[in-house]
Amino acid sequence: MTEELALEISDVSINFGGIQALDSVELAVAKGARIGLIGPNGAGKSTLINCVAGDLRPDTGSVRLFGESISGASAPSRARLGISRTFQNLELFNAMPVIDNVTAALDVRIRGRARVSGARSRAREALASFGIEKYADLPAGSLPYGIRKLVELSRAFVREPEFLLLDEPVAGLSQPEKFLITLVEGLDRLGCAVLLVEHDMPTVKSLCEYVYVLDTGALIAQGTFAEVASDERVVAAYLGAEA
Ligand SMILES: Nc1ncnc2c1ncn2[C@@H]1O[C@H](COP(=O)(O)OP(=O)(O)OP(=O)(O)O)[C@@H](O)[C@H]1O
Ligand SMILES: [Mg+2]
Repeated sequence: MTEELALEISDVSINFGGIQALDSVELAVAKGARIGLIGPNGAGKSTLINCVAGDLRPDTGSVRLFGESISGASAPSRARLGISRTFQNLELFNAMPVIDNVTAALDVRIRGRARVSGARSRAREALASFGIEKYADLPAGSLPYGIRKLVELSRAFVREPEFLLLDEPVAGLSQPEKFLITLVEGLDRLGCAVLLVEHDMPTVKSLCEYVYVLDTGALIAQGTFAEVASDERVVAAYLGAEA
């Protein structure tokens, strides 16, 4: 059963100097599934993403990726298992051209000319899929926020992940609908699972078949978008009465 899961989080807790950022969280993502993670500011969403990607170690609990326990594994070794992520606060090399930012995500160890040019053509394809290939030779730091978000996403996609962690990919984009269409095309092509953290509810509603809701570190609801959106605790803690 476990090998059908891309991700299985069990009893994960983490405390930062008295702040219980995650409190016994249980969450699963089936292979190829599109799962949402929502909740108010400070709920622990990015902390959970960091615990899965290996950028943080939980105090207790276990994280399994594709059926393997990865609790002790580094971020790079988790990436080699097929996981890619984006950061809420973009982590680009601002002085480097966009194309080099994306090529760097491929981790080309062998320096042969064919390998490098192969990596660059894959990077160009990834940029083209998000409609931003015309920025390839410009320094990433010189571009508007919305374009940098798409560069970050190109970095995640160029690795052809089996499981993608997205931390607020839509925030700051002027055309989230257009972005979503491209994202879904990419996920379909790769058969890739996704765990999406997002405050933009139309995006969560249209992408995610199942949604978890965190509040002050604890899960307060889970179900389809319609189910959680009508849950009294979710309305009170996050969505407000107008939802
Ligand atoms: N490295 C850290 N050291 C100390 N406290 C932290 C650290 N990272 C997060 N926190 C705290 O943990 C809690 C959860 O933060 P987190 O960033 O996971 O929230 P979030 O759900 O992603 O919020 P947002 O929607 O604003 O991005 C917050 O109270 C935050 O201040
Ligand atoms: Mg966050």
